[in-house]
Amino acid sequence: MNIALYGFMGVGKSTVGRLLAEELGYVFIDMDKVIEQRMGISISEIFRRYGESRFRELESDLVKELAGEDDVVIACGGGAVLDPGNVEALTPSSKLIYLTATIPEIIKRTSKDGNRPLLNVPDPEKKINKLIEQRRPVYEKYATVTVDTTGLTPHELVDEIMEALR
Ligand code: S3P
Repeated sequence: MNIALYGFMGVGKSTVGRLLAEELGYVFIDMDKVIEQRMGISISEIFRRYGESRFRELESDLVKELAGEDDVVIACGGGAVLDPGNVEALTPSSKLIYLTATIPEIIKRTSKDGNRPLLNVPDPEKKINKLIEQRRPVYEKYATVTVDTTGLTPHELVDEIMEALR
């Protein structure tokens, strides 16, 4: 069985995922990193050169590939579960864990990183609010476990997830 961590940008999927994988003795896979490595360019550059739709194809291909793995922790890209086909592919072999954070926390965390093309707009706060409003129902629909990451350290979050998995 795999663990797939998903949720909006900046909720800590990669940081928590790496630690959780260590704790479980699983392999950690960061979807965005795999896509970047395979393409040899950053996510921002993929969006710029080939467009978001090409990125979404690469993301779906990778989801389908990962669905065949066992004992891996997957940090999904923030948009990965928006495609129902991706969720359908993931669910038989993965437990879906939804990480959340408050909007101010997300704004704070994402402002430090320039490699998020969807937030590379004049008013990122407005975009974050809009995307979260659109995505929240979808995110909530698939959660087997929901963990609010606001104010918790990565180690505390791993403890909370381990508890929920017991
Ligand atoms: C996206 C989230 C990003 C990355 C891409 C699109 C999204 O991943 O996949 O920029 O649609 O929410 P993180 O959630 O790891 O930042």
